Amino acid sequence: MHLTGQARLAGVIGWPVAHSRSPLLHGTWLARHAIDGAYLPLPVHPDDFPACVAALVRMGFAGVNVTIPHKQAAFALCDEVCPGALRAGAVNTLVFRDGAILGSNTDGTGFLANLRAHDIDPAAGPALVLGAGGAARAIGAALADCGIPVTYCNRTHERATTLATTLSGRAIRWDDRAAALSDHALLVNTTALGMSGHAALDLTLDAAPPSLAVADIVYVPLETGLLAAARARGLRTAGGLGMLLHQAVPGFAAWFGVTPVVDNELYRIVAADLAG
Ligand SMILES: NC(=O)c1ccc[n+]([C@@H]2O[C@H](COP(=O)([O-])OP(=O)(O)OC[C@H]3O[C@@H](n4cnc5c(N)ncnc54)[C@H](OP(=O)(O)O)[C@@H]3O)[C@@H](O)[C@H]2O)c1
Repeated sequence: MHLTGQARLAGVIGWPVAHSRSPLLHGTWLARHAIDGAYLPLPVHPDDFPACVAALVRMGFAGVNVTIPHKQAAFALCDEVCPGALRAGAVNTLVFRDGAILGSNTDGTGFLANLRAHDIDPAAGPALVLGAGGAARAIGAALADCGIPVTYCNRTHERATTLATTLSGRAIRWDDRAAALSDHALLVNTTALGMSGHAALDLTLDAAPPSLAVADIVYVPLETGLLAAARARGLRTAGGLGMLLHQAVPGFAAWFGVTPVVDNELYRIVAADLAG
């Protein structure tokens, strides 16, 4: 596909950004739909973030994804944010329209879409969320918006209680995570534990009811120790790569005017790149 002078432009801003699979993901969709557009990796230092976003608006970009460490700074720059982003206090998707910056947070909706793609009903019962960082906040807000009671459990207990207060959930102590499984329909790991280069998540699933669904948002490796243990017990599981793919859909639709599909081929393309 050759770009014309009218090509639509979008990208991902992060620091660093070289590890991001978003250019591959959006590039695959652009090629599939033969769209006159491009999606670029945009490494931007935090000190330069507001000026760079303002420049992209003026240069006619359709919008950008925002990743670590800019999600809160991007929230502060928005002229309008969607309710989910307001609850999460952070945005990961910016749409530029008539000089205004519209922000949304698609991590939570992407997480829910991935559960449904795995035939897991998020509303089946209470959810136990491990972690209290940015991803926990976005996912907790999305679950709460569906009316699902959420329990937060985090190594640093104060962060779990703060999140529980903000999102009308409850908090339990980190040491109580294994025993709490019996009271929940969904377990979500939003900590970095289990990710390559990090310690494993220390959690026995002995108290898990057979109906428990287990989601891990870590996607390197694709099958974390938690997912492998859950599968071995016959529990339903959903991995982090699916969430990454689903969270990208609304941005692409807004920037390029086509709602793309998350399918097995896309999963294989990004998974192969991660494995390489
Ligand atoms: N699949 C996707 O699309 C997607 C999207 C976003 C994020 N993620 C992944 O989700 C993970 C978290 O991202 P984030 O943005 O929420 O990060 P974050 O804001 O830095 O939060 C990290 C969380 O991990 C916990 N943690 C870190 N090391 C720990 C340890 N040794 N023991 C116990 N808890 C530990 C932290 O607990 P403390 O509060 O005690 O420090 C905190 O709750 C990352 O692996 C990221 O790659 C995936």
